[in-house]
Amino acid sequence: MSSKLHELAVELNNILASHNSPVASMLSERGKRAYFPSRGILGQSAEAKDAAINATIGTAFENNGTPLTLECLAAKVGLNTSAFLYTPSYGLPPLRTKWREMMIQKNPNLNGQSFSMPVVTNALTHGLSISSFLFVDQDETVILTDLYWDNYDLLMHECHGANLTTFPMFKEGVYNAEGLEEKLMTAGEKKIVLLNFPNNPTGYSATSEDAEKIYAAILRAAEAGKKIVVIIDDAYFGLVYEECVHGESLFADLANCHKNVLAVKLDGPTKEDYVWGFRIGFITFGCKACTGEHYKALEAKAAGVVRATISNTSSLAQHFLLHAYELPEYAEQKINKFLTLKERYNRIQSIFLEHPEYADSFTPMPFNSGYFMCVKPVNANPEKLRKLLLEKYSTGVIVVAGLLRIAFSSVPLGKLDQLFANLHSAVQEMQ
Ligand SMILES: Cc1ncc(COP(=O)(O)O)c(C=O)c1O
Repeated sequence: MSSKLHELAVELNNILASHNSPVASMLSERGKRAYFPSRGILGQSAEAKDAAINATIGTAFENNGTPLTLECLAAKVGLNTSAFLYTPSYGLPPLRTKWREMMIQKNPNLNGQSFSMPVVTNALTHGLSISSFLFVDQDETVILTDLYWDNYDLLMHECHGANLTTFPMFKEGVYNAEGLEEKLMTAGEKKIVLLNFPNNPTGYSATSEDAEKIYAAILRAAEAGKKIVVIIDDAYFGLVYEECVHGESLFADLANCHKNVLAVKLDGPTKEDYVWGFRIGFITFGCKACTGEHYKALEAKAAGVVRATISNTSSLAQHFLLHAYELPEYAEQKINKFLTLKERYNRIQSIFLEHPEYADSFTPMPFNSGYFMCVKPVNANPEKLRKLLLEKYSTGVIVVAGLLRIAFSSVPLGKLDQLFANLHSAVQEMQ
């Protein structure tokens, strides 16, 4: 990598280091190089926005000045044809504003707190890539629970060279915040933590008690001088089925908890609004040491990575979502879909109560939220069990870390009883 940083990157780094902010020291080498090319084509094009003749941007317009689009597509889309144009690398401005407002509605503790504007990403996976790009160096360690979404391996380890170091998620059936603290207190000043609630694969979310312990562990480490980047993967945010679950994102707790803690929130409509293929997400920053200027610099770095990797995200999807968020029926429809999933969660709990004999075949892991739950087979090899379930019982599940992951989000209510009966029969057959 060439040694000289671009002058715009230097400007952003200087801002991030100003007022004794530790954020500049949390950046990776590539994060230090990242900048938004505000003085290139994008900057010149923005300057010419209101010119009588604008020959700056690589889109096409009809002779009457409207976007040049194929009528067959425009008719299908049914939105204003501006949805065919590029959006800024930062994302569609009104969507960013709306998402930030919605974030505060969903997390009332954020009200009055300082945090950045969200930058639009190509869904959460891309948000994870941007976070890795900005904060994770080759061979740097990322701390997370032993039960995690397997794409973190490919994304953070294989592509960004991170070492994933895990702590057991549960100790005697309870979330293991001590395990997190132990990892945070290991040698070295900079720490990177990845938190994911509701969790994939377990479907577990921190309870209020867990959240307090996680917060306290991170705060103690920050007070001890650790500089901590906490990446918060909120893919399944809001899908919680029990009263005891901490109702807000840990971002709301951590965004202003200590100057040594930079919270990076990754969220989006993929799972929350059931638009998996839309590919829209958000990355948002919060740190007690940050001023508005720092946040703008972090947003510029994130948008610079968007520009460098995908240029900008789907305009169509952003327009569709903005439209939906402004409809009065959006909230009610969202609740109805949530209730569909909650009903399945409740049914699974009832199945376990109605069938104590299933305990001879499998042990459910703690779960209270999200799309999934996991079971630990009793005296049966998980991979052999998965194959038997598929071949003899026509039942597909996933093996992960010695557990079977069951995506109840995709199983109709009426098939849940059969699913667990099949699981029990298959294990009995193997024992
Ligand atoms: C924990 C977790 N994070 C992120 C993602 C990726 O989300 P997206 O489809 O928005 O990229 C998933 C998808 O399965 C996930 O389970």
